[in-house]
Amino acid sequence: MSETISTGPDWLPLENMATAYWQSEVLFAALELELFTRLEEDAALEALAAAANCRGPELERLLFALESLGLVENRDGGWYNGKSARRYLVSGRESYLGDFLLYRRYLQAPWTKLSVKVSSQPLAAALNAADDYERRTLYYVRAMDALARLKAQGIVQILAALGWQGPVLDIGGGSGALSRALLSGVEGGRALLYELPEVLRAAAELYPRPAAWRGIETKSGDFRQQEFQESFGLVLLGNFLHIYGRRETGELLEKAAGLTMPGGLLVIHDYFPDTGRRVSAVKGRLYDINMMLNTCSGRCHLSSELAASLPDDFEPGVLHDLPGDSSIFISRRRAQ
Ligand SMILES: C[S@@+](CC[C@H](N)C(=O)[O-])C[C@H]1O[C@@H](n2cnc3c(N)ncnc32)[C@H](O)[C@@H]1O
Repeated sequence: MSETISTGPDWLPLENMATAYWQSEVLFAALELELFTRLEEDAALEALAAAANCRGPELERLLFALESLGLVENRDGGWYNGKSARRYLVSGRESYLGDFLLYRRYLQAPWTKLSVKVSSQPLAAALNAADDYERRTLYYVRAMDALARLKAQGIVQILAALGWQGPVLDIGGGSGALSRALLSGVEGGRALLYELPEVLRAAAELYPRPAAWRGIETKSGDFRQQEFQESFGLVLLGNFLHIYGRRETGELLEKAAGLTMPGGLLVIHDYFPDTGRRVSAVKGRLYDINMMLNTCSGRCHLSSELAASLPDDFEPGVLHDLPGDSSIFISRRRAQ
């Protein structure tokens, strides 16, 4: 079940501009692999993977991204070209545009140097792969914090309407933006921000004032190995599970569920490809490709997969779309 509270915050067009190349690259990859042409021959994933020399699971994720963009369709267990793909993307057809579209990609490299062309000064990139790890971590945590602060109010509102109690466990909570927003105005509220040590160092640098840490305790380590002595009224997994593959996510979810008090809430903020809202479903599929490219085994999980992994003493989860492009999946542990 999916509930929408509102759409279209004013920052979303900027995020869409920043990630517009995700769509281009999905199209270019499919053209390079000649998927649309090959789909005219056989609709089965295995046959397509064999014909295009692709790895099946990765190919399937690419196909789902193409489906979200309306270029292919998945029905009756097979994959089929959509209307515009059939007309413009099948090689050999008179209306074939693939060569033209791939020429657009050929022109792409100079675009990444646009600022250099315009600038009268030598420019230093904001972040380089060669920068030291602490600097890259600070940049990363600051970036996550900026988006989390924007999204936190929507989450706070939904949780306030449902009713929640502390203490909060913010697993992989980055700078603590969501915990901070939740505790603001809650007298005596308490949160445990659990993170990797280098992230907590960056968070302390970003928020040097003690007031920013009121009610927030930090603990560093790897959640997968950590033993906890207490349980929590509100357990948060914000943009955390998409770093992990299906098997590890099942284990992490079970551990997080076990740390939730009876009557408490387990809250997963993420990009969900199976939300009913199109803008978020597209983002979920493209974000899944982003995780495939930038992590070892990360992926965007379906809310239905998470729901199926919850222990029996949890109520069926509900997916709430946030203003913007992500959603929160919430499930309450039944009171004993
Ligand atoms: C994408 S960030 C999300 C940060 C924040 N929750 C948000 O929504 O903006 C994921 C965070 O999870 C942390 N993380 C990943 N695996 C972890 C683990 N095994 N133990 C502790 N933290 C972990 C990372 O350090 C990173 O800061």
